[in-house]
Amino acid sequence: MSPMNTCVVGLQWGDEGKGKVVDILAENSQVVVRYGGGSNAGHTVVIGDSRFALHLLPSGAIREGTLCVIANAVVVDPAVLIGEIDGLAQRGISLAGRLFISENAHVVLDYHKREDQLREESLGKQKIGTTIRGIGPCYADKVGRSYAIRMSDFRDLDALAGKLRTIIEYKNKLFGALYGAEPMDVNGVIESCRTYAQRLAPCTADTTELLHTAIAEGKSILFEGAQGSLLDLDHGTFPYVTSSNSSSLGLPSGCGVPAKMVNKYIGVAKAYTTRVGAGPFPTELDNEIGQYIREKGHEYGTTTGRPRRCGWFDGVAAAYSVKIGSVDSLALMHLDTLTGLKELSLCRAYEIDGREKTFFPANIDRLAKARPLYETVPGWDDDLSEATRFEDLPEAAQAYVRRIEQIVGKPVAMIGVGPKRSQTIMKSGL
Ligand code: GDP
Ligand code: IMO
Ligand code: MG
Repeated sequence: MSPMNTCVVGLQWGDEGKGKVVDILAENSQVVVRYGGGSNAGHTVVIGDSRFALHLLPSGAIREGTLCVIANAVVVDPAVLIGEIDGLAQRGISLAGRLFISENAHVVLDYHKREDQLREESLGKQKIGTTIRGIGPCYADKVGRSYAIRMSDFRDLDALAGKLRTIIEYKNKLFGALYGAEPMDVNGVIESCRTYAQRLAPCTADTTELLHTAIAEGKSILFEGAQGSLLDLDHGTFPYVTSSNSSSLGLPSGCGVPAKMVNKYIGVAKAYTTRVGAGPFPTELDNEIGQYIREKGHEYGTTTGRPRRCGWFDGVAAAYSVKIGSVDSLALMHLDTLTGLKELSLCRAYEIDGREKTFFPANIDRLAKARPLYETVPGWDDDLSEATRFEDLPEAAQAYVRRIEQIVGKPVAMIGVGPKRSQTIMKSGL
């Protein structure tokens, strides 16, 4: 098989099932790459009775033959990453010699998480509903440059200690003045960095060189998006977004591989829509149907355990993510979760100021005016969890998938009928 570089990206507001799709595709990839975000991500892989929830390691890590890359634009929480490496080791999966972390990736430390929490608390009802993983503050320090720590800083602990003293003095003044917070002890932070450096400095590398060498050697690379396209800092529902380019537009800048070197973009969407945290959600079902989907689909956050908001499939939003992400085909997950609903609604357009629109307005002031225009189709009662071929699905489920293909304008290549790796239907060529 000729080498194939593939990007897997979420088309909604995250948690679409990217971990499962990446795990499946990693079978034919030599390298798996996280290109953005941080431990705000929670990607689940279920193999038989074993469940893995990964926050920083690419989901392909579970397949022992793969090289795992954490690229430049990822913000790395070393404590979480070490916990994840050790957790996999305890389950017999070793990362030794196959994990490469960009030396240029920025580091999330305790003061970032503290700032995230203090800011959210101070905003009260206006809060974004972040994961409190320090993501926004770390990216802000990266853009600000003067107070940033990168993975390469772990190579010189004396220099790092000096930098941390300056940074924490500044943060203590800031948090004290803004939030009345108690000062943080710099020595504790320096001490924990000693452990982080011991464990992670040997894994740091020039991952851009590594990826270009892998491409030149004809290896297949799988790029794993985190979050979803609608949480993209520049193209999502700002300010209710994350602090990185979480659509596939973040891939080239995130890891130094140009978009044209990626052969395939696979967009992952649920057969309905979910969102966790605040922000607009035109097709939200704040009623017993939303509750049914939440319970049947176990829609509680992988990272924070928060209940996810649930709603109908939003074809306008998904089609937008397909367009900005140059998506070739869809992986449609959680079709099984819709079993038991008598009728299903699909949003095919919005009405805004009396006019029908099919192009998603990411600006939230315009989005607030959007009234979803639905079409209603019959549901099904059959259990889908054992289906292995598209033809095995009830006619109503097949028709539902075909209608999504029409609305979004791309073929559905993969269908999820349960959380397990094996509960996946390959519909048409990927
Ligand atoms: P990610 O962040 O996109 O990787 O998604 P998460 O792992 O946060 O959330 C997806 C959840 O749905 C996880 O609990 C998965 O195990 C589960 N899941 C994935 N695909 C399917 C599916 O087709 N059906 C069902 N019932 N569960 C699925
Ligand atoms: P995966 O990769 C779902 C959401 C948060 C919040 C907003 C900002 O598992 O799909 P942040 O902590 O990033 O500053 O929070 O973004 N969010 C996610 N929602 N899945 C994710 O990741 C998310 N990562 C961030 O809930 O609304
Ligand atoms: Mg998730």
